[in-house]
Amino acid sequence: MDKLVVNGRKRLVGEVAISGAKNAAVAVIPAAVMAKGVSVLENLPDIEDVKSLCHTIEKMGGKCKYLDKHTLEIDCSADMDYRATFEEVQKMRASYYLLGALLARYGKAEVAMPGGCNFGKRPIDLHLKGFRALGATVVEEDGMVKAYADKLVGTSIYMDQVSVGATINVMLAATMAEGVTTIENAAKEPHVVDTANYLNMMGANIKGAGTDVIRIKGVSELKGAQYTIIPDQIEAGTYMIAAAITGGDVLIKNIIPKHMDSLTAKLDEMQVKVVEGDDSIRIIADTPLKAVNVKTMSYPGFPTDLQPQIAALLAVCNGQSVLTENVWENRYQYIEELRKLGAQVHIDGRIATIDGVPHFNGAAVSATDLRAGAAMILAALAAEGETVIDGVRYIDRGYEDVEFKLQALGADIKRMVI
Ligand code: UD1
Repeated sequence: MDKLVVNGRKRLVGEVAISGAKNAAVAVIPAAVMAKGVSVLENLPDIEDVKSLCHTIEKMGGKCKYLDKHTLEIDCSADMDYRATFEEVQKMRASYYLLGALLARYGKAEVAMPGGCNFGKRPIDLHLKGFRALGATVVEEDGMVKAYADKLVGTSIYMDQVSVGATINVMLAATMAEGVTTIENAAKEPHVVDTANYLNMMGANIKGAGTDVIRIKGVSELKGAQYTIIPDQIEAGTYMIAAAITGGDVLIKNIIPKHMDSLTAKLDEMQVKVVEGDDSIRIIADTPLKAVNVKTMSYPGFPTDLQPQIAALLAVCNGQSVLTENVWENRYQYIEELRKLGAQVHIDGRIATIDGVPHFNGAAVSATDLRAGAAMILAALAAEGETVIDGVRYIDRGYEDVEFKLQALGADIKRMVI
């Protein structure tokens, strides 16, 4: 159980390169299973979730070979098992994409119920409703989701709620269905677009990803493809906030600035200087920061996956901020940990009212989930004295080389391997 030890109040200065997007990678890797062929995926982040998916695919009969730290060759030419039942699958929420992928390739899929970060109910009813609309029979039994179809037939599907996972999963299944599927009220997140782009390179016919209507004309087979994963919007946002919270000056490279618009707007409102380049953003924080109100929403709104990190920043701004979590019903468990560092936060349902304090004070805290862990690191960077963070395994699920990237910017952060 590793811990991170941070001595805070060091101004971050320099450059940091952002890794490939976790949430795109965990959708694109299962999509690779749909082709009887070889795909080469580039710019994959070197994180635990990607490794877990590789192990899963290998156990199912596929072959995964790293060509370098960030490039993976996935060979699914041989027939694979349509069941993913093992413990590993349950650890990771995104294993549910194997359902759509296997259903498309084999007309049958059995996948252990997904796990992942726990912030309240995380239903997958919309995924299953979409599969059923395409003609599949779906049952949930013995901790497994089982889906079968003699053939999948395209149809029109209206998503009751905007869901990234359901949009991608139904898109995977519909890619090889007979006829045309339209997904209305689709999620527009960058990783939805990235998955559609990869599927199209494999021979799929998907139009409209990135808008709220996606139109999929089914094809009978897919081939392997070479594809480069987009940069990670959430990792980029975390480093933007790291620069702001330490009064730093950091160039964040290898990003798509457009993906950062909702955060850029908030940082700008807080009086952080944000300078956009073609594929970089420079953050300069040299004045006291103003409190602002933030509401999480689906893309292009402010991402819920940056909510804990922005809360850490708001907690050391001048004045009162109101944070509203609109996506997940229980994503404030980490606030208790932030309070240990001195944050003044009042929670009422989905609303957190934050009264800024001059600075945090170091303490022992836990990462209660992946992004909560990122918030603990950010708070620790701004804290007087030493902070020890445990639960680092959550952080390793989604942040590549986090301590090395921060050390290179001048942070005093070390991993204690226990
Ligand atoms: C993905 C991200 C996660 C992020 C979330 C919202 C991945 C691997 N994970 O999760 O990091 O926090 O998007 O941006 O990409 N819902 C239902 N029924 C469903 C599915 C979802 O009611 O079948 C609800 C959820 O309870 C939630 C909302 O829809 O309130 C959004 O969830 P969704 O977009 O599906 O999140 P995930 O895809 O699981």
